[in-house]
Parts: sequence; structure tokens; C-alpha cells
Amino acid sequence: MILGLSFSHNATACVLDEQADRVLFCCSEERFSRRKNEWGIPYRALEYVFRHVAGPERIGIVAVGESCRMRYGSHEFAELMNLVDYGVKDGYIRSKTRLSQVVFKEALARTFGRSVELRALVIARLRALGLSAPIEFTDHHAAHASSAYYGSPFDEALVITFDGEGDGLSGSCWAGKAGRLERLESLPEVASVGLFYKSIAAFLGFKVNQQEGKVTGLAAYGDPKRFAEGLRRFLHAEMQDGRLNIVSEAAERHMSRLSRRKVYFLRLLSYIPMVLGAREWEPLFNRLLRREFCDFYGGVFGVDGESIPFSVAADVAAAAQQVFEEATLAIVGHFQSRFASKNVALAGGVFANVRLNQRILDLPGVENLYVHPGMGDEGLAFGAAMLHANASRQDKGLAGLDCVFAGPMYEDAAIRSTLDALGAPYTPADDDVLIEQAVQALQAGRIVGLFRGASEYGPRALGHRSILANPADPDLPARLNERLHRSTFMPFAPAVLAECFDTLFTGPKYAGAHPAARFMTIALDVDPAWRGRIPAVVHVDGTARPQIVREEDDSFFYRLVRRFHEATGLGCVLNTSMNLHEEPLVNAPTDALHVLDRGAVDLLILGGHLVTGSSVPSRL
Ligand SMILES: [Fe+2]
Repeated sequence: MILGLSFSHNATACVLDEQADRVLFCCSEERFSRRKNEWGIPYRALEYVFRHVAGPERIGIVAVGESCRMRYGSHEFAELMNLVDYGVKDGYIRSKTRLSQVVFKEALARTFGRSVELRALVIARLRALGLSAPIEFTDHHAAHASSAYYGSPFDEALVITFDGEGDGLSGSCWAGKAGRLERLESLPEVASVGLFYKSIAAFLGFKVNQQEGKVTGLAAYGDPKRFAEGLRRFLHAEMQDGRLNIVSEAAERHMSRLSRRKVYFLRLLSYIPMVLGAREWEPLFNRLLRREFCDFYGGVFGVDGESIPFSVAADVAAAAQQVFEEATLAIVGHFQSRFASKNVALAGGVFANVRLNQRILDLPGVENLYVHPGMGDEGLAFGAAMLHANASRQDKGLAGLDCVFAGPMYEDAAIRSTLDALGAPYTPADDDVLIEQAVQALQAGRIVGLFRGASEYGPRALGHRSILANPADPDLPARLNERLHRSTFMPFAPAVLAECFDTLFTGPKYAGAHPAARFMTIALDVDPAWRGRIPAVVHVDGTARPQIVREEDDSFFYRLVRRFHEATGLGCVLNTSMNLHEEPLVNAPTDALHVLDRGAVDLLILGGHLVTGSSVPSRL
């Protein structure tokens, strides 16, 4: 068996059984720790793996999805920056004595020329867990590329990766042919389109590595013309004398000031007042970024960044989305000239941007598009494992991540024990009854929580940890946003019955969107005739981010959506992630009951049980 791991934000563990061609487990640490985009070695996910999937002695190889070549002065500082979780980082921020000691030790070690490589620390930590298998380190973008190609249904594909930065690069382009990946080109971190987008998110006051999607959602409300010209100075890409020239001043600023790999102590001194007032690592990091990019962009937008009117924020987002698309599509066009294929496979955090993905499918020469469902750094664990699984094969043997339901699952007996222990009344029911109850509730305008089977890998809820609602109700988005404490401008997405997909969506290439739309990773134009009939899942620009629901992927969810179609004539339901404000997707039954207890849903399907809001004890 192969154990894939990633350690940076979105720390994740993945287990492949290469003999059986199966993904046995893939899940991010955040689901267990309940801290979004959790950092460090995924100890809790590994504990689950060792207990329920495979003990450390059954692991034949450990594949890490980054090179871990970074060097630091001291062990303590290297661990703090890379290998510990948010809870430990917060401890350092709260204890200024401990923080001063670790920073002083690092400065002293550097002064005397001592250094330690992160890789040695990683090996020591994994050995301490009882993992005696060989540990292989993979380049960050090779792992992203592997997740895109081996997860895709394509035998041949142009494979592209873009992210903020990883292992010194911000993007790459590969030829995937007959089970082999050949690297054609790499982009340096200073050319990063991802860091540009991240800088705009920081300027607008959103959390980086987490809320970039809010920039995309907001963009649909704005006019790009107001700021686009000014922003092109900060990001543009064009061909000059046969060479690709990329300028990303935001990336240069980020790398020179805030890189984890290049810590400048004189600059750290200027942050001292902010650090003294901080209690937690992540808000501090976001405040630092915001200050940097408010200074950087303030003059362009004519606002100081402290209080930005909605209309200005929307115009900034719209301009940023346009400039970002222009530059990224220019680079993709160049990559197409290196290797022509009608199939394109994508991975890397940049491809969480569903509007960009739609533009890429629209490019001449592209007929089919796949976006890996764990497109962010959670995909590095899967990608590294798949790279090793395929290294000794002559064809693309493993089926890849054909289905994303690879996280923890809870049998009905375990769910019943939880309900009984909490004293929560529930009704056991068979699938037909549960589906009928859910459809009746949706028709009556009620909000339904759906918790069944193994949890989804990646950022999207695909029917195993989902909240469902009626897409026909135009007032629902406002009501649901209020109940879930989410931003009012964020759209909701539809889970679409496979046989209704062609009816609801339009455009010359919608058929080629199937590989991506199975995982809700692309925006598509909703047929104008349908926009008024399913207003709760259509964004202000007439697009939606669909999930195609197929019977072979999930029979229960498929039957539920089909029954809703029979009852209403609508071939989709609203599907959003089951979580409370800013929390990760729910993981265990108690997390789902917590969502019900807080009033986010009216009733909850919990495995083979129906639980209603009024029946849950308030002590959850
Ligand atoms: Fe990445």
C-alpha cells in the first residue's frame, strides 16, 4: 500500500491499494481537527488510517507531495513554520516568551551559519509514528500534475498546474500520454497568477487560501472597466519575440515580503506591534497580508482598504477576475502550442476558480476538461501516491479517483450509538421512506441535511455531507445565507440529475464539461429558459456550478434528485456544504447533529435515520 501525504495548508493523508487499483482513503486533517485548511503533519487523519484502514506496518511506501528542501536555522522554527497545526501555532502567538525564544534561536543559528533541512525533520516525525517504509519526496507541481492526469478519465491530455507557489514554482505544463507524464515547462513563483488573486482577496479583507472564492462570487456584481487598466500593470502575460513574458508584481511583492521560505528578520521587527496584539496565528497572518496589499494597491483603487464600499469591492473583484483570466488564458494558450490535445486536465489552487475553468473549456482546441476535485494542496497527497503507483506500470492502470467518497464513514450501528448516547430521538427508516420524507420537506421549503456514506475528498460537498433545498424559491439564498451565516453575494450550486444536464445547461461545449461537472469544479451557462425556474441556484451572471448526479456514483442521492424531479418537474436540487460558518465540512455524526442543533437545517438524514430539529437535545 502507498501512503500519500501533504503538510502545508490542507494537510491530507491518502491510502492507495495499488494491487487492487483502489483509493482506500483520502481525507484532509481539517475534517478531524475542525480548523479549516489545517496545517502540518496530518496526525489525526493518520490515526484514523492506522485504526480503520491500514496499520503503519502495512504501508509499503510513503509518498510526500512536496520536496521539503527548505532549510532553517533551528528545528523549532522549521517545525513552527511547516509541521505543526494551528493549535500549536496559536500557543506560540499567545506566549510571547516562547515566540521570542524560538525567533531568537533561529536568528542565532543563522548568524553562526547553522542550518537544518526540513526533509530530515519530516523523516524523523514519520518514523516516530511507526512508519518504517521508504519515504519518497515529490516535487509539489509534479504531485499536482499527477493528481490531474491520473485522476482524469483521459489517456492523453495537456496537463496544467497553477497555484500560489510550491517548491519554488507557480505553475507547470505537462504532456500526459499512455500513463506517462512528461514535464514541458515550469513557471517561477515570481510569475504567479495565484499570488495575484490571493493579494486581491487580502486587499478586500478575505482570508487567504480560504476565501478566494468570494472574490469570484463578488466579481459578478461589478464592472471590470473601472479598474482593469490599472490592474494590468500588476499582472499581465503576453508573447514577445516568440517567448512568453509574464509580469506579476503582486507575486514579487509577496515573495519578497511574506514568503515562508525567505524569512527576513528586519522585516519581522516591523510586525512586532501587530504580533503583540494577536491571539491566533491565522488572523495575524491575514492582517499582515492585508496591510501589505492595502499599501500596495491603495493608490490604484482610491480607497484605504479599511472600509471598502460594496460597489468598489465588486468593481475591484470584477477587474481582478478579468485581468487574472486574461493572463492565465494567455499562458494556457502558450502551453497549448507546446502540446496540442483536445483533453485538458487541471490541478492547483488556481483552478478552484470555476469561472476561469469555464473560460479554459471555451478556448479553441479544448473539447474536454477535467479539474481534479481536490485541486488545492490536499491533492498533493493523492498526486504523490498516484505518481508512485504508476511509476512501474506501462499504461494508465489505476482508475484514478473515479469517485471522491474516500473519507471516514460511519455505519448505522455507530450512528445509532451516538444518537442513543445523546438521548436524541430519531426514526429509523429505509431508503425509500427517507427519500420521500426529504422530497416532501424540500417541496415545503424546508432545509434538509444529508449525511450518508464516506465523506467527500476536496472542498465540495457532493451529497454525502450536504445541505439540500428547493432551487425554485427565489428568496431561499438570502434565507439560507442568513441561517448559515454566509456572505449574501455567494451563489448556491445545483446537484443536477445526469439526464437533465443537457436541458438545464447550454453552450457549444457543455458536453465536454462532464468530467469536471461531476465534481462541481466548473461554471456553466444556465439555459435562459431555466434561469427563472431555478433562481436559487443561478448566479447573477446567469451561470451555475453544477454537480452531475449519476446513479453509478451514488444511488441514494441519484434517487432522491430523481424523485424531486418527478414531483416538481425540476431536474436539480440546491446542494451546499454541510458546515457552520467558517468551519470545515462536517465529519462525524456529532458534527452533523451540531449543525441541526444550531438551526441551520430543519431535518437531518443521518445514515438510515431521520432526525428533526426539535428532537435534538440542546447540550450538543
Ligand atoms: Fe499547490
